[in-house]
Amino acid sequence: MTDTSSQAKATFRVGSNIAFIKYWGVADPELNIPLNNSISMTLADAVTVTTVAWDREGQLAQDEIVLDGQRLGPETAQRLVRHLDRIRALAGFQHRARVVSRNNFPMAAGIASSASGFAALTVAACAAAGLRLDASRLSALARRGSGSASRSLFGGFVEWEQGADDATSVAHPLFPPEHWPLLDVVAVVSRAHKAVSSAGGHTLATTSPLLEGRLAHVHNWLVEVREAIATRDLARLGPIIELDALAMHGVMMTSSPSLLYWEPATLALLHAVRRWRRQEGLPVYFTIDAGPNVHLICEPESLGPLRERLAAMPEVQEVLVSGPGPGPQELDEHLF
Ligand code: PMV
Repeated sequence: MTDTSSQAKATFRVGSNIAFIKYWGVADPELNIPLNNSISMTLADAVTVTTVAWDREGQLAQDEIVLDGQRLGPETAQRLVRHLDRIRALAGFQHRARVVSRNNFPMAAGIASSASGFAALTVAACAAAGLRLDASRLSALARRGSGSASRSLFGGFVEWEQGADDATSVAHPLFPPEHWPLLDVVAVVSRAHKAVSSAGGHTLATTSPLLEGRLAHVHNWLVEVREAIATRDLARLGPIIELDALAMHGVMMTSSPSLLYWEPATLALLHAVRRWRRQEGLPVYFTIDAGPNVHLICEPESLGPLRERLAAMPEVQEVLVSGPGPGPQELDEHLF
């Protein structure tokens, strides 16, 4: 990171990430300490660009935040303002901030905009404040905004350690993006905002009778996923990521109140993926976050045949494709 202490403005581009072993449920909702380790791939082409400028002249009465062209009202801005408060506390000042942020993918539809969003806000706000934190500290700080954001601090394949406290619950890279050109092909079936945010959902996980079952198995799944990534073995990785996504959605569906993120189109895709694999030998596997859209994980040679099949499904509104990407990139060009 360059020395930005002389300027009060910084811009970063940060990739979202797709989890192969999911984060669902918190041991500590204030710190976002999760109930298990999670493993993800940082995405090259699903990114957030964020510019933060601290108002050293005291012109602003409150933080001014514009997300995808929309100025946020006090209620929607609250979570971001709280995050800026954490950074103000670290920097030891009270300046308000101007924040402009843009995603190149639909927000709040199960494509983790909160991951890249909070990671980008964290690195841009810290750099603009002249705070020189190492990647591990930044990961811990991003986690406070949104758990999955802790993983977007690193490129490629990443593991977030559950940890025991604020300092130890951080992500670290497993393999760089060049290790394996795996693709996340997102079949967008809805652009609607989800009814329950994942932040709210995490606190419900402990009400599910299935939570213990998932947590009892997740350790072994983590071992498998690490090894499958190390050996670039999709036939080994795929079944485990499907199993964990289904286990997480089982927990979601059986919590009180019940969270049902799937739409009929979601289920149509799950059946289609299994049909393509079993009957047509197409090596593609699914995972789903807190939304109805389906992430299809495959290797580059399967992309053409997969696109053809998705194009024939009326449920699929749009297809977004991304391979593994780098960690946060500082940009010279600001959004304002
Ligand atoms: O970081 P949050 O609070 O948006 O939670 C993310 C939860 C999932 O996307 C469903 C799973 C994950 O590990 O990314």
